[in-house]
Amino acid sequence: MERENFGSKIGAVLAAAGSAVGLGNVWRFPIETGQNGGAAFIIIYVLCILLLGLPIMISEFLIGRYTHANTAGAYRIVSNGSPWKWVGRMGVFTGWFILCYYVVVGAWTMHYTFLSVTNAFYEVPAQEYEGIFDRFVANPWVPTLWLFLFIGVIHYVITRGVQSGIERSAKVMMPTLFVLTIFLAICSIMLPGAKQGIEFLLRPDWSKVDSTTILDAMGQAFYSLSLAMGCLCTYASYFDKKTPLAKSAVNVAVIDTLIAIMAGFIIFPSVFNIGMNPNEVGAGAGLTFVSLPNVFQQALGDGSFLAVIFSTAFYFLLFVAALTSAISLHEVATAYVAEEFGFTRKKGATIVTLVVLVLGTLCSLSFGPLSGVTLFGRNIFSLFDDLSGRILLPLGGMLISIFAGWVLDRKLYRNELSNAGDLCTPYFKLLIFSLRYIAPLAIGLVFLDQVGVFEVFK
Ligand code: TRP
Repeated sequence: MERENFGSKIGAVLAAAGSAVGLGNVWRFPIETGQNGGAAFIIIYVLCILLLGLPIMISEFLIGRYTHANTAGAYRIVSNGSPWKWVGRMGVFTGWFILCYYVVVGAWTMHYTFLSVTNAFYEVPAQEYEGIFDRFVANPWVPTLWLFLFIGVIHYVITRGVQSGIERSAKVMMPTLFVLTIFLAICSIMLPGAKQGIEFLLRPDWSKVDSTTILDAMGQAFYSLSLAMGCLCTYASYFDKKTPLAKSAVNVAVIDTLIAIMAGFIIFPSVFNIGMNPNEVGAGAGLTFVSLPNVFQQALGDGSFLAVIFSTAFYFLLFVAALTSAISLHEVATAYVAEEFGFTRKKGATIVTLVVLVLGTLCSLSFGPLSGVTLFGRNIFSLFDDLSGRILLPLGGMLISIFAGWVLDRKLYRNELSNAGDLCTPYFKLLIFSLRYIAPLAIGLVFLDQVGVFEVFK
């Protein structure tokens, strides 16, 4: 079967950036920055991207493009029959896992876009927002309906193929996402009191930095760049031989970081504008679906045209960001099922979609009818989230860096990196050094932290 490639370099970078820019940029990064010393955190985060994120991203790109195969196939080829082939399979399954709960939040962003557009937040008292969200997620039907719609859109894009589906949608959605982000950030910065918000975000406060901050920054860098889950490896398998790997990786990292920082410019000026304490706004779902709808109404005028536009633009931005990331996660599994089991792309995609429909619905219902089903004190959704994000993600990252640094043939690496000698690679030694020593050690620490080993010493 003829394998498709991305049609252009810019299309390839936009697709990979679409994978990276997701919910993590909007609902985690700004809060972590605000609470961990502002610019101090941003500096540490950027260092993590440079020292750990980029080397691993480049390695994933390299393995994908070298093999032109799905992630499981790719690692099987480069591991020459050794057990390292399991790194690829693990990535595929973790990605599939992440997708099952990620689509649930994607569905919520659709519902909140709908609520915003219909001005449903008009005259809602501040203390009511929590109830609105809780009742919505506990309802057995409404979130499931949105979930099916969200998964339907992903399925449609994936079955259209690499060029007319993934690449074409990225070329529309990524510019939309930039425009929305810039529009929202400008609106927010112009609010009275915005200065305080910007200061909160940007003033470096090194007293807030401790070992946990650094571990948080590393974890966030990993999640945000979509590392260790086969996404970048799979997308790179559609790169052509001329795509510059290091440069593309740098572009993706820059886009991802810029959007994350701009999300902070959207959130904090409006939070400070209504005199709210940024420590009260929460993080994740609580921030996005409980605090922010209220903040937007109050900051821009309850029920006003501007509030409707702003709020709609914000949830639509989240929707687009979640969608492009979810598409990349789906593609990992689709390429795997289709190529490893010899199905057509359509059939592979259908199998993946059916599994996601079932598991995604279970995750979604775990806020309502299935909330009693728990393991280790977590509902199904948190179980999926924690298992993939806290354990499998750092584990995968560590294994990839060890593999790329110690096992993968050095000549092959250099040859691919330089596009068979076309490009200069003065950074090669540093890259290998990071893959061999810095990354495994640092990620190992994140891993131990995530599974709670350090709690014992606190
Ligand atoms: N990077 C995305 C975000 O910031 C989420 C994501 C997509 C992801 N693919 C991934 C995270 C692979 C880890 C691994 O929301």
